[in-house]
Amino acid sequence: MKIAVSGKGGVGKTLIAGTLARLFAQNDYNVLAIDNDSAMNLSYTLGIDKEIRNTITPISKMKELIKERVTMEGGGSGVYNINPQVADIPDRFKIKVSDNLELLVLGSIEEPQSGCLCPENALIRTLLHNLITKRDEILIVDFEAGLEHLGRGTAKGIDLMLIVTEPSQKSLELSLKIAKLSKKLGIINIYLIANKIINNNQISIINQRISDWKIPLYHIIPYDEEIGNADLQGTAPIDYAPNSKSLNSLKTLFYNLLELKKEIFDL
Ligand SMILES: Nc1ncnc2c1ncn2[C@@H]1O[C@H](COP(=O)(O)OP(=O)(O)OP(=O)(O)O)[C@@H](O)[C@H]1O
Ligand SMILES: [Mg+2]
Repeated sequence: MKIAVSGKGGVGKTLIAGTLARLFAQNDYNVLAIDNDSAMNLSYTLGIDKEIRNTITPISKMKELIKERVTMEGGGSGVYNINPQVADIPDRFKIKVSDNLELLVLGSIEEPQSGCLCPENALIRTLLHNLITKRDEILIVDFEAGLEHLGRGTAKGIDLMLIVTEPSQKSLELSLKIAKLSKKLGIINIYLIANKIINNNQISIINQRISDWKIPLYHIIPYDEEIGNADLQGTAPIDYAPNSKSLNSLKTLFYNLLELKKEIFDL
């Protein structure tokens, strides 16, 4: 199963992606977590030690590799191989988190200048395509805020698009844009997750706002001070407060996704 987690900046994508990755791994699935976020926080949420975290270089910053794979022999500046060879990269650069959980930090893709397809973009885009269409593990991708760089072929490989929103107009507006784009790109299972919810009134308002979106409010995660406390301690939320209200909610989400996985694959 290939799961993409998207949404506006700061809504909780990394918390959800990382915790789900840990829960799948705890339940004996082989998991590859993909960090496509500029902030590179997924390693923290997965519970990787700080010393190891500090040594991680995202693929998007590996200048030599990018040059080797994307530059065309004899091509002048601005001439790139837009379909570079990438199949060996995930296994070379993935980081082992535990027995059946691994992390690959792609880094974010810079917004292309008008007409410019930067080499980093070509490599990351091809890598995403390769990962989503070729890997056998449970794949959980922590996407950068927008999905502008998701191609149709890659999107078709995504079994589940989880769009995370917080109770704010801006976040809901971007969620709708992401939902429309995901649909246009051919993703079938698109679900909204409301995070940082404080009261029922917020849920009612979100439900009203999305009534004509044709995507369900699939799950609700409460606002939880323990998440901030975990962050201050530098400990992954799932290790710091495994029985807190948000973690319990994430566990319910995980079990619901297992059921959904059966529906999608085992029919
Ligand atoms: N349910 C919650 N309760 C309280 N705080 C939360 C909750 N979910 C996330 N947070 C806090 O909100 C902030 C953003 O969370 P997170 O990094 O997971 O979001 P993100 O969408 O990945 O952000 P970015 O776009 O910057 O990568 C963090 O400080 C996190 O601790
Ligand atoms: Mg993030």
